[in-house]
Amino acid sequence: MKKDQDKDIVRPYVVDGIEEYDNPLPSWWVGLFWGTIVFGLGYLLWFHVMKKPGLDAELTAQRQAFEEQKQALQAANGGADSLEQRLKDPKAVAEGKAIFATNCAACHGQLGEGSIGPNLTDDFWIHGGGPDAIVATVTNGVPAKGMIAWESTLGVQNIEKVVAYVLSLKGSNPPNAKAPQGDEYKD
Ligand code: HEC
Repeated sequence: MKKDQDKDIVRPYVVDGIEEYDNPLPSWWVGLFWGTIVFGLGYLLWFHVMKKPGLDAELTAQRQAFEEQKQALQAANGGADSLEQRLKDPKAVAEGKAIFATNCAACHGQLGEGSIGPNLTDDFWIHGGGPDAIVATVTNGVPAKGMIAWESTLGVQNIEKVVAYVLSLKGSNPPNAKAPQGDEYKD
């Protein structure tokens, strides 16, 4: 390596006894400097001026794929994505009515007014009046009190249908209704 004195060209002036050397910046530094400028320009053009060609299309495609997945999932769930929605489905209510007449009316009355079992048309529930709670009561039953666990007889889907029907009875005020039991449930 050359000595500094040999390499550096002294500027031809001295100010207050201070000499100035012209030390060129190391080439790696200069390379980096120009490199960042070139990169920055390219970046600016690609992302801000040309808006990255294809980015929009890519996003649209991804969104579409997501929507399709979601719809497929909803279709697999019977066209609705939450229990609440499934329980409001008029088809489920209609099918639940037949299930109720066959399996539940003997104890809860033809119109859900209650006899051996409680009134299912009022706002009062022994085991909770939320959709989840009612599904759980019908699924697991209350064996000690004579309410059958319907899980093995009806299966999950028919239980949802009969619960959809039970919920549709709310406030129907049938004749000979059994007095309310349990706590009031407000939704
Ligand atoms: C053998 C009689 C009997 C049959 C059949 C029966 N239940 Fe019940 N059910 C009862 C009794 C008794 C209770 C009250 C349990 C208690 O006091 O804890 C009850 C409770 C319930 C409850 C909870 C009510 C509340 O206040 O929390 C629901 C919901 C219910 N039954 C729905 C059904 C449905 C739906 C069917 C038909 C799939 C059905 N039951 C069939 C006797 C019956």
